[in-house]
Amino acid sequence: MKVAVLGSGGREHALALKISESPSLSELFILPGNPGTKKLGHNIQIDINNFSSVINFCKTNSIDFVVVGPEQPLVNGIIDELKKNGIVAFGPSKNAARLEGEKSFAKQLMIENSIPTAAFNVFQKDNYSQAVEYLKSTKYPVVIKADGLAAGKGVVIVNSFNEAKKEISNYFDKSLFGKAGEKIIIEEFMEGEEVSVFAITDGVDYVLLPTAQDHKKIGEGDAGKNTGGMGAYSPTPFVSNAVLEQIKRSIIEPTLFAMQKVGSKFSGCLYCGLMLTSDGPKVVEFNSRFGDPETQVVLPLIEGDFLKLLYSSSTGKIDKDSVKFSNGACVGVVLASKGYPEHYEKGYKIYGLDQDFDNDVIIFHAGTKESNGEIITNGGRVLNVIVKSKNNDLTYCKKRCYEVIQTIYFDGMYYRKDISDKAFKH
Ligand code: AMP
Ligand code: GLY
Repeated sequence: MKVAVLGSGGREHALALKISESPSLSELFILPGNPGTKKLGHNIQIDINNFSSVINFCKTNSIDFVVVGPEQPLVNGIIDELKKNGIVAFGPSKNAARLEGEKSFAKQLMIENSIPTAAFNVFQKDNYSQAVEYLKSTKYPVVIKADGLAAGKGVVIVNSFNEAKKEISNYFDKSLFGKAGEKIIIEEFMEGEEVSVFAITDGVDYVLLPTAQDHKKIGEGDAGKNTGGMGAYSPTPFVSNAVLEQIKRSIIEPTLFAMQKVGSKFSGCLYCGLMLTSDGPKVVEFNSRFGDPETQVVLPLIEGDFLKLLYSSSTGKIDKDSVKFSNGACVGVVLASKGYPEHYEKGYKIYGLDQDFDNDVIIFHAGTKESNGEIITNGGRVLNVIVKSKNNDLTYCKKRCYEVIQTIYFDGMYYRKDISDKAFKH
């Protein structure tokens, strides 16, 4: 099978690696890919948000299957366009991707189907004063979210009315999030441990991948600004089998069923961002794709034919026996550019990538670029250092991961030193 993976981050490097291990693969293309994916297949410089270029490429090269990484093309309907052109693709249709692209749609669906989530209210730009009145009477902290896609930056947690009022002016007056922020959700603050659960689904049936925990804040102890994610580990020891059952019965199955009922069957990867509250697991958000950096620690734990799992779920009936999960564990730390998630410099040479690491170590590229035969930094999140243990030993993974990091260097390299500590709290 000739496969094209769309995207250029650490997530897509991890997808490309897992797909490259499949016996059903004949040739792999990554659009546009990064210097890490270049070792696994052909990197093709195409703008994946330009659907006609992607379709032309797939037709000219007789691509059998497309796997889409990032949310933007999914929310804009790339799967529908590929399918119209006879190309099989993994991911939800435009209508189904509203679960991620329109938070108000996802919240409404949850309320109508009794799927546990934080209590909320929706306000449009033209009910600014109503939003202010509501904020006067509500309990703090409260969470304010842009309705549309905002690259992980559209969510703020505020502790007082004054702070909240200032924040909503960022959405409504200053239009910091453009159209995505013309509608906002104000929701109840939930307390608990966060966990990411990925269901690979054909829209009816599904396979759950090992659970993972992301570290969204820039600083240790979850201090400072939100980022795309600074590291992750899998599995999460605090999610018992009983809790996992509850997640399946009260969240995943009713969500898939609700999407069928509204005529937007969701096939692809349903990413459930959950909070394990004292009242049980509740949905923080749905995404319509694999998470980054969770994918980088989840996929190494999959055995069997991952490509077959994705292909079967995209062609009607998921083949649940195509994969198994190892009893292993993984820790992944993101090496970022100083200044990220705000302003940072690019173009620094990266040292230490040409070592022969042992089999337990994987380096996934994200914001890197090749220049004059050298690998240089080219983004906020530059590399992911992953260590896998065959016998579920997160302590070993963490220790080894930070040892490996000591052998890699670029100017301004920043990383969190506490990735996976939350696993040991429990
Ligand atoms: P989201 O983009 O909706 O996942 O929000 C980004 C992050 O904000 C989440 O990963 C949580 O850490 C936090 N967050 C979002 N909604 C809530 C909530 N209702 N209560 C507490 N924290 C939240
Ligand atoms: N790990 C957060 C995300 O992928 O949205």
